[in-house]
Amino acid sequence: MNPGLVAVATLLALFAITFSFFNPQALFSPPHVPGSKDHLHAAQIIHLAGAVGPESLVFDAHGGGPYTGVADGRILKWEGEQQGWTEFAFTSSNRSDCRSPFAPELEHVCGRPLGLKFDKQSGDLYIADAYLGLKVVGSAGGLATNVVTEVEGQPLRFTNDMDISEEEDVIYFTESSTIFQRRQFMVVLLSGDRTGRLMKYDRSTKEVKVLLRDLAFPNGVALSKDGSFVLVAETSTCKILQLWLGGPKAGQVDTFAELPGFPDNIRRNSEGHFWVALHAKGSPFGKWVSSTPWAGKVMIKIGFNFKQLHSSFAGWKPHAAAIKLSERGEILEVLEDSEGKTLKFISEVEEKDGKLWIASVLMPFIGIYGL
Ligand SMILES: *[C@@H]1O[C@H](CO)[C@@H](O)[C@H](O)[C@H]1NC(C)=O
Repeated sequence: MNPGLVAVATLLALFAITFSFFNPQALFSPPHVPGSKDHLHAAQIIHLAGAVGPESLVFDAHGGGPYTGVADGRILKWEGEQQGWTEFAFTSSNRSDCRSPFAPELEHVCGRPLGLKFDKQSGDLYIADAYLGLKVVGSAGGLATNVVTEVEGQPLRFTNDMDISEEEDVIYFTESSTIFQRRQFMVVLLSGDRTGRLMKYDRSTKEVKVLLRDLAFPNGVALSKDGSFVLVAETSTCKILQLWLGGPKAGQVDTFAELPGFPDNIRRNSEGHFWVALHAKGSPFGKWVSSTPWAGKVMIKIGFNFKQLHSSFAGWKPHAAAIKLSERGEILEVLEDSEGKTLKFISEVEEKDGKLWIASVLMPFIGIYGL
């Protein structure tokens, strides 16, 4: 008998047993989040001409931008309605084949900029490129140069996000997996991969130290306002982890928050609260499959395509959800576009002057929502 069929039958039987008390629709539906406000559909949209996947957004020290990294490897800058988007920087020097807005098979050639952060003093833009490592480019833009490309003798495999501590002169950054690359992010999520790391790059000594290992898809990174801890979104477990950097708890890791979905980037606002973008809320099936490695491995082995794998964990109804957390990890606010009318699969929420600027790793636009 075909081993694939046996696996499917086993998988289905186990679903049926595990979830027989659910109705099937509920199994794949994103949950209702208590206290959530279904307001994000009112966001204004700014389209990206000929580009998709603005994963992270950042403003420079003068309030210019936002800047965003897109799927073809470029970093674009928003210059306002009149000028629109302009090309600011890129992470790869070999861009002759990088013409398609979305070509995952070329990401290792073209670069795929994810997390972005400006150094406020120098005006330099730091870039976590999923394939090319940690990079930096001056305030005039152009070709970024290398900051960190390998750790412990191994090239970085899937750099994801970072935050800069200017007081300590260090950069905290994540590598989501040491095995899989960004284009296989679904495999990281569904196979139970726990090879992700949080690292610290010291700008004066140029040394990298691994702070946390064995993480399940570490993603967004944000320092607290006083620098006493750093947060890391662990996408596969739907958790935000808190690593204490100073004081009596230095070195300790706590669970800062457990979320109703899969967190992507975390960004601190001026009050010291944190906005977390959920790639998707977790349906009962999505949560089960992301916490049951064999199930995900079977689905991958059977040859489910990207769309099927994606909807198995993100639910069958695209939607957007953003969560504001206090400095102690309490949920202060949940904003949603529960029907995905305007926004879906959001990856970052950046608060500036009473507005939320909202990015998405899959969509061809950004959103602006007035608070
Ligand atoms: C540039 O990229 C192409 C693939 O698009 C590759 O074949 C070629 O070797 C690369 N050149 C350099 C100098 O890395």
